[in-house]
Parts: sequence; C-alpha cells; structure tokens
Amino acid sequence: MKRVVSLTVNGREVEDIIPDNLLLIDYLRERRGLTGTKQGCDGGECGACTVLVNGRPRLSCVTLAASCAGAEVETVEAQAHGGRLSALQRAFHENLGAQCGFCTPGMIMTAEALLRDEPDPDEDRIREALGGNLCRCTGYVKIIRSVRAAAEELKA
Ligand code: FES
Ligand code: FES
Repeated sequence: MKRVVSLTVNGREVEDIIPDNLLLIDYLRERRGLTGTKQGCDGGECGACTVLVNGRPRLSCVTLAASCAGAEVETVEAQAHGGRLSALQRAFHENLGAQCGFCTPGMIMTAEALLRDEPDPDEDRIREALGGNLCRCTGYVKIIRSVRAAAEELKA
C-alpha cells in the first residue's frame, strides 16, 4: 500500500507518495537525492545511517519513511550553510575525525543531537552518546576529540 505523506526534510516541507514498506534511508537517498546518509550494515548495528527525526538520532535503515509523517527529518546535508561547514564538520576535518568518512555522517548527526541537548559534554559522555556509531578507521580517539573541539567552538 502507498500513502501521501507530508514531512519536513532539512527544513523544507515535502509531500510524497510513499509505499508503506519504504525505508527512510532509501527514501532519503533515492527519492530526495540525499546520499550523505550512508548504508553500512543495513541492520541497525553500525549507526552509519543515523539521521535526526524531531531532533533525536534515528537509524534510518530500520525506520519506515511513512512513520515520519509530520516529522522533521535532518540529514548531514543540513549541516553546512551557504557553503560554510558546521562547527562539527570543521572539527572532524581539522582533528582527523574522518578517515574513510563512511561513518562520519552518522557520527556527526548523533553528535549534533548530543550538543543540542548538552553543549559541554565530557569525553565519557561523548563516548556514551556515540556508542551506537561504529568506526573501522579512527580508533575513536580523534572522533571524541572532534566532538569536544566542536563543543569548544560553539561555546566561544
Ligand atoms: S546501516 Fe543503519 S545501523 Fe547500519
Ligand atoms: S572513518 Fe572510516 S569507518 Fe569511520
């Protein structure tokens, strides 16, 4: 079955005919062309597909697009404004928090939700918040450092 669904994606109101079984990750990547959201494990295990739904991190590979009716969805594409990287994107770049970069969109969106709620998290809190986001490259230290650096910049 299909239904007409209205939602907001990266600040833009959209209305689409969406099959009930369409996953949010496929909707975002294939229908909306937002390929920044990555598909890693495809089974709710790696966090690469994390987006924000009403400000909370959500695994888009295990979320039905139709369940986001009326919701506000944010992807990593919403981070940069006017060609300027967000504080988190800059911090990941400057602190080598992104190596292959595959996990980075999910890391950044999870960190974004954290910093909105808790502007000054310590390293343990950052580790806890990012516990569902896996990275095969960095060993996590540079990722934690990146989130701390973004928090410092946002505080200044
Ligand atoms: S692709 Fe969604 S959790 Fe891995
Ligand atoms: S930077 Fe490669 S998986 Fe995290």
